[in-house]
Amino acid sequence: MNWFLHIVSIIVIQFITNSVCSKMQNNVCLTYKDYYTIKNNSNCWYDFSADSNAVEIISKHGYPVEVHKVITLDGYILTVFRIPNYYSKTPRREPVFLQHGWMSSAAFFVAHGKESLAFELADNGYDVWLGNFRGTEYSEEHVNLTVHDNDYWDHSADEIGMHDIPAQLELISQATGERGNIIYIGHSLGTTSALIYSSTYPKAAKHTVKLFILLAPASNLSHMRSLLFRIFGPSFGFVLDIAKNEHFLRLISQAEPLKNIANLVCLESPELMKRCMQIINLMVSGPRTQTEPKTVPVLLKHLPAGSSFKVTKHIADLTRNYFGKYSYGLDNYKHYGTIFPHTYDVSKIKVPVFIMYAVNDWACTKADSLRLYDSLSSNVRYGIHEISEPNFNHLDFMFGRNAKQLVNDVVLKLLLGY
Ligand SMILES: *[C@@H]1O[C@H](CO)[C@@H](O)[C@H](O)[C@H]1NC(C)=O
Ligand SMILES: *[C@@H]1O[C@H](CO)[C@@H](O)[C@H](O)[C@H]1NC(C)=O
Ligand SMILES: *[C@@H]1O[C@H](CO)[C@@H](O)[C@H](O)[C@H]1NC(C)=O
Repeated sequence: MNWFLHIVSIIVIQFITNSVCSKMQNNVCLTYKDYYTIKNNSNCWYDFSADSNAVEIISKHGYPVEVHKVITLDGYILTVFRIPNYYSKTPRREPVFLQHGWMSSAAFFVAHGKESLAFELADNGYDVWLGNFRGTEYSEEHVNLTVHDNDYWDHSADEIGMHDIPAQLELISQATGERGNIIYIGHSLGTTSALIYSSTYPKAAKHTVKLFILLAPASNLSHMRSLLFRIFGPSFGFVLDIAKNEHFLRLISQAEPLKNIANLVCLESPELMKRCMQIINLMVSGPRTQTEPKTVPVLLKHLPAGSSFKVTKHIADLTRNYFGKYSYGLDNYKHYGTIFPHTYDVSKIKVPVFIMYAVNDWACTKADSLRLYDSLSSNVRYGIHEISEPNFNHLDFMFGRNAKQLVNDVVLKLLLGY
């Protein structure tokens, strides 16, 4: 089966070492109060992760980085970053594919300093590949469409799982010759897409992926508490129709306009920065957080990274007790020939699955994670791990103060013992 149209280019950028950072202005501080005197406060400093894109961040940490492009069967040009291990002094290990979540990007796996998951994997000899979904800031190209076309944004999590995932995995398989040996680590929507892919193409997935590690898995989200989806979700179908007709779909989907608004509001003052984080946490991640004030400008540099509003609506669909295709409501019959959208049968998955969830995660809850685990075929249930820390929320998987101990160490221990 062919999974992609073309692999476009491989640009190798190696070992760009740390540039002159010392002269840069402070951009992060220890506490919200310190931000009021950021310029000459000794509790503030310059963090390049709050000021650089994913490739720059990887390079500035002293790692080699490659940029790959792959074109999906429906024409989306995806950018995949790689931190190769061919210079690694530790034993060289298999490829690990990291796939980000909703409104996120590859940057989420490299922006938390040296303790970022991607760097810890690279330090242990893994060949690290970082995916970027269609419609995120690193993957905005298409062979025929531009981000200004409504049609560009006409995709949900279904296309992401059925096109973006196999195309990126095929790129890795061909570049490394490690087909069947790839470890897939996804967060949130990056787990939804893994489940869509591997339940739709169970055989192909089995031949490609060795193990799925699902951080904050999102399938049937019936217990989701995030206010954005709980309160506003039911109106998303209506918003989507208007946005398409009035041509503002891009403005509620693309990274740039969303970030402009977020920055205008959230970086205006330390007080607003604090309030913004509280709102993001209530709307999506969970009210209590481990993300420290010094990390907030880093997070706001990379969030929101863009996601079609149709994907956002699809996530809201999943809070209504099913894990299935995008719902067109009354038009389902027109699109699918059935009244309800087709559901994904996760019991078909043949690749071993390991799950990690956090009790304080409002988006991907303990109840939904346990139910997903139970729905898997018993011979692929590879383990389930609870993060019971009461302050650890959805985004803390990448940005939490103890993400290294609570997430990375668990992942590495699992992989090194696999
Ligand atoms: C920082 O600069 C401001 C204004 O330039 C000054 O009033 C304040 O005393 C300075 N604070 C420190 C800690 O140097
Ligand atoms: C792009 O447009 C060409 C010409 O209309 C068409 O043949 C091709 O199928 C399109 N490709 C995709 C992926 O939509
Ligand atoms: C989704 O989860 C809810 C609550 O656990 C359950 O009642 C429902 O049957 C699930 N739906 C599917 C399709 O698994």
